[in-house]
Amino acid sequence: MTALDIVFFGGTGDLCLRKLMPALYFLYRDGKLPMGSRILGLSRGHVSRADYQYQVLEKLKLYLGEKYDGEVGRTFATLLDYRELDIPDQKSWATLKDYLAPVGAREIIYYMAVPPTLFGTVCAQLKQHDLNPINSRLVVEKPLGEDEQSAEAVNDILSTSFEESQIYRIDHYLGKEAVQNILPFRFANRMMEAIWNRDHIDHVEITVAETVGVEGRAAFLDRAGILRDMIQNHLMQVLCFVAMDAPTDGSADSIRDQKVRVVDALRPVTLDNIHDHVVRAQYGPGNAQPGYRQEIADQDIAGTGETYVAVKALIDSERWQGVPFYLRTGKRLSARYAEVVVTFKAPESTAYAGAPANRIIIGLQPDMTISCSMAMKQVLKSADDLGHHNFTDDMLAGEAVRIPDAYEKLLGDVMQGHQAYFVRHDEIIASWKWIDGIRKAWVAADLPLHSYEAGSMGPEASDALLAADGHTWYSKE
Ligand code: BG6
Repeated sequence: MTALDIVFFGGTGDLCLRKLMPALYFLYRDGKLPMGSRILGLSRGHVSRADYQYQVLEKLKLYLGEKYDGEVGRTFATLLDYRELDIPDQKSWATLKDYLAPVGAREIIYYMAVPPTLFGTVCAQLKQHDLNPINSRLVVEKPLGEDEQSAEAVNDILSTSFEESQIYRIDHYLGKEAVQNILPFRFANRMMEAIWNRDHIDHVEITVAETVGVEGRAAFLDRAGILRDMIQNHLMQVLCFVAMDAPTDGSADSIRDQKVRVVDALRPVTLDNIHDHVVRAQYGPGNAQPGYRQEIADQDIAGTGETYVAVKALIDSERWQGVPFYLRTGKRLSARYAEVVVTFKAPESTAYAGAPANRIIIGLQPDMTISCSMAMKQVLKSADDLGHHNFTDDMLAGEAVRIPDAYEKLLGDVMQGHQAYFVRHDEIIASWKWIDGIRKAWVAADLPLHSYEAGSMGPEASDALLAADGHTWYSKE
């Protein structure tokens, strides 16, 4: 790899200092940052190079704790530089151009660690100053719009200055090891692909449970709601990996094409069926924790956003016709974990009709395990008294390895020009279309906002959603 210039818009912001600099620090430490690369922070404040280096190192110490090595830190700091950037001021851009000169001689990665409202001006200025050569890349991150129309507007902005092959839309779930393992687990194992369809699978659950509340982000979350904050992106990515057909080759686009086909095949949720498909809720007080409304009481916030959503999604494709995919995510739940549970149909042989269902459980976080549960004869019991056996593989296999943060993996991919784990324009639009349909239907149907106790696993209505199909949410206990 040739030397890179990595440029952060928002170089003194929280995302840059808390997530991106640690990611670069590890890439550098592990020899994955090409020799001669430079890192530039851009922001409005007047900060000297030495001050910026000091600021970054202090944050690395703070966030990395014992993993921080002073020796590595000191040499890493020599790659860092800082320039003041006042976006509307033409002089600032001339300064950036000087830094990058001769533009195009080195590969450039621009990272937009700034609010999306600034994307338009930044992209326009980059173009106006010829700072967007074909060997530059642009990294952006959610929220990329709040509905289909605004997502199109964001895409228009990005695509006036950059080609799709230069744009890297981050969804940090795609940088998680266990999420990335879903495709090889499915497609590199012949026995999996043979059974991964509606003939054998009864239903699928995808859960992303969080224990945190709204923290300092209440204003955003109340407006967006968890449907837009989590389902439109993170759960959708997991759903795509679980449901997509095999990519035709190893290219980024053959994976991304198949994902788009899944999203396009999602059956629209409408006014007629919303009550059977969606549950929305907000946490109230419980288990010695305050409720959502209490937490935001001193802020000027409507308090109408949902903090929990459960959706029954149907995919109208040959592979999945009639198989429900239940998605749920919520804040202030009883545990933090993410997992996929695939439940299989009853055996074909009537002789074993009562056998416990086969399940494949894919732990995404914090456990990174795959567990297959099979019906087996229990030793010394009769052959029709079957028990469950779990065959579990821990991806870490007890090894004390450091799992790179999602940002580290994804930045590494940007550096190498690998786009497979980045979301393409058409997928973003397709997923907003489906999400917009749900939001439109819930407004028209006046869908109730249920309540659940903080520290529980969500509202009763969510259990009822599955019970209507004769199912229950999988629980380890
Ligand atoms: C973010 C959401 O994208 O993902 C947050 O905006 C959420 O609301 C977070 O807490 C969850 O990420 P993770 O990696 O902790 O599961």
